[in-house]
Amino acid sequence: MFGRTLEQAMVWRATGARQRVFSWLPFLPFSPSPRLPFSPAPLLPFSLSPFLLVSLSLLTGCDLPGRPDPADRPVPADRVMDFDKLYRQNCAGCHGQEGKLGPAPPLHDPLFRALVPEEELKDIITKGRNKTLMPAFARENGGTLTAAQIQVLVNEIKGITYKIVDKQEPGLVSIEVVPDASGISPKWGMPAKAPEGLPSYREPSASAKGGDAGNKKKGAVVFARACAECHGNQGQGIGRGSEKVNTINDRVFLALMSNQVLRRYAITGRPDLGMPSFDARPGDPQFVPLTDREVTDLVALLASWRGE
Ligand code: HEC
Ligand code: HEC
Repeated sequence: MFGRTLEQAMVWRATGARQRVFSWLPFLPFSPSPRLPFSPAPLLPFSLSPFLLVSLSLLTGCDLPGRPDPADRPVPADRVMDFDKLYRQNCAGCHGQEGKLGPAPPLHDPLFRALVPEEELKDIITKGRNKTLMPAFARENGGTLTAAQIQVLVNEIKGITYKIVDKQEPGLVSIEVVPDASGISPKWGMPAKAPEGLPSYREPSASAKGGDAGNKKKGAVVFARACAECHGNQGQGIGRGSEKVNTINDRVFLALMSNQVLRRYAITGRPDLGMPSFDARPGDPQFVPLTDREVTDLVALLASWRGE
């Protein structure tokens, strides 16, 4: 069921309001086909058999004539520690080249970077997010990245300066990534401090027993004040010329998004696509910022549009 849904959703995104996504489709590491669960683009175009690996290491160990300069040798995939490379090869296809304007939520977003707890960041990259297109990247979960590589991504996204400690002892190579105030600075700079009143990344009661999920009726009231202007009072979208834009009340579209990411969008907006964050509305200086509770109720409303 999910496979068909994915295909429909990609079509929806490509032909609906999100024309922009079209231009990202070639970068997607999977083709929008019903083959699911999909996997992210393999790092290598072929898989190295253990036999080939052995012969490769034998070869590189010998002093053959015409042997390439060791400095030109490609870095083995598990030793790549450069953020640009890691990000480009593993994340950019979905999250956008610069962490913006991709089909998946922007990671290069000041509010998101301030909002997301470091542990959550590590957790989602390691394990992926169930029932969404976000894949698990840790090797123990079938992904391609080591714990150290994941830590580089976490530090860069969260804005933690760090150093890479490369311990090489005979028979043992270990790379550790540790915080270091005078170490490598994140490429995307340091995120600003979280603004006053910023709702929490997770639904505060999510971990509480019995869970105090939101109230969709109250959510509809919040939607009318904070969202309807751009999305229509039922999320059906608004007319622009002969076109209908910003439709979000769509089962197929919502089926691909977790409640967590809906929560995050209500808080951070999507500034890269022109959607404002929790505390501002263009043309309304009196706008009262959304509270934690209001965001929770909004998510209950949007989730109900999935028709579950
Ligand atoms: C195949 C597409 C795809 C790839 C590749 C991918 N992601 Fe994601 N990612 C997603 C989607 C879709 C979501 C939103 C999931 C949801 O609905 O909650 C997501 C969510 C996330 C989130 C949580 C964002 C939030 O707002 O809560 C983080 C962090 C993240 N991805 C990091 C990464 C990193 C780092 C990489 C590369 C190592 C990566 N992703 C690669 C599709 C992808
Ligand atoms: C000022 C206009 C504006 C307001 C207000 C606004 N949005 Fe949006 N929203 C947008 C635009 C523009 C997009 C991107 C649409 C696109 O490219 O298809 C968007 C996209 C979304 C998306 C889809 C994100 C994605 O990755 O495709 C969701 C979900 C969403 N909005 C929810 C909300 C909610 C909930 C509210 C109220 C808290 C809200 N929006 C308020 C303009 C707005």
